[in-house]
Amino acid sequence: MNFENILVSAEKGIATIIINRPKKLNALNKLTIQELSEAFTILESENSIKVILLIGSGEKAFVAGADIAEFAHFTSLKGAELAQIGHETLFNYIENLSKPVIALINGFALGGGLELAMACHFRIASDNAKMGLPEVSLGVIPGYGGTQRLPQLVGKGKAFELIMTAGMISAEEAKYIGLVNHVVPLNELLSFAESIANKIIRNSSSAIGAAIKAVNSGFNNDENGYDVEVEAFGACFETPDFKEGTTAFLNKRKPKFE
Ligand code: COA
Repeated sequence: MNFENILVSAEKGIATIIINRPKKLNALNKLTIQELSEAFTILESENSIKVILLIGSGEKAFVAGADIAEFAHFTSLKGAELAQIGHETLFNYIENLSKPVIALINGFALGGGLELAMACHFRIASDNAKMGLPEVSLGVIPGYGGTQRLPQLVGKGKAFELIMTAGMISAEEAKYIGLVNHVVPLNELLSFAESIANKIIRNSSSAIGAAIKAVNSGFNNDENGYDVEVEAFGACFETPDFKEGTTAFLNKRKPKFE
């Protein structure tokens, strides 16, 4: 896969996407969003890929936000379009991907950068990471799902404080409020994430995809999460992975999922 602003590699079922605009602290311009969307689409369809890791290049930033220079002159129509296209092609797309996507927050994750990390299924931060939604300091609000996903993750009160103050929190504070699951030294971030990815890989991909769908449905006003869970639970019984998982357990051996 050849891209201008991202690097994609894969090894033993784990794909790594590096957002690669270090001179602009990996800010999300239109091309980067398009390329990320394309890369996720390709990786979703690639059977050998089981887990996707998303990280920023360099040691300073995951992503320092949407590219301010690109939208500074937008009209309200163009602004709404920017947000809508972002939701559809990337942020909601990642959230609903059938494969686990883990954000490795290796520095600043601000604005659209934190929103990108929040669209991933969970987050691991390096100890130098700083997170925040500074949009109101620019006279705008979070537009890539931040007003929705931040309260879901940390509760409404904490979310309001972060959004209203436009401030940054440390990795440890982010862990304390449940925004990230783990904090590790920067030089251990990738290996730590890979160790979690390897635990995930041992399990049934089809069951993991069904679990993602069921969990997400509980946050979708158009669906009843319990109904989706019942249907997805039932559907698992017809899968080769269910046969293999239960057979392996009953035969006292480890499952080998295809
Ligand atoms: N959009 C466009 N360019 C950005 C950017 C963004 N969100 N964040 C950083 N950059 C660019 C800077 O303009 C600068 O480019 P230049 O060297 O051509 O001038 C380069 O990245 C390095 O950033 P700089 O501000 O010099 O680094 P710093 O270490 O002094 O500060 C930050 C780091 C993250 C505190 C600061 O860059 C910042 O506040 N960025 C914007 C964060 C933000 O508001 N994001 C939400 C956008 S909706």
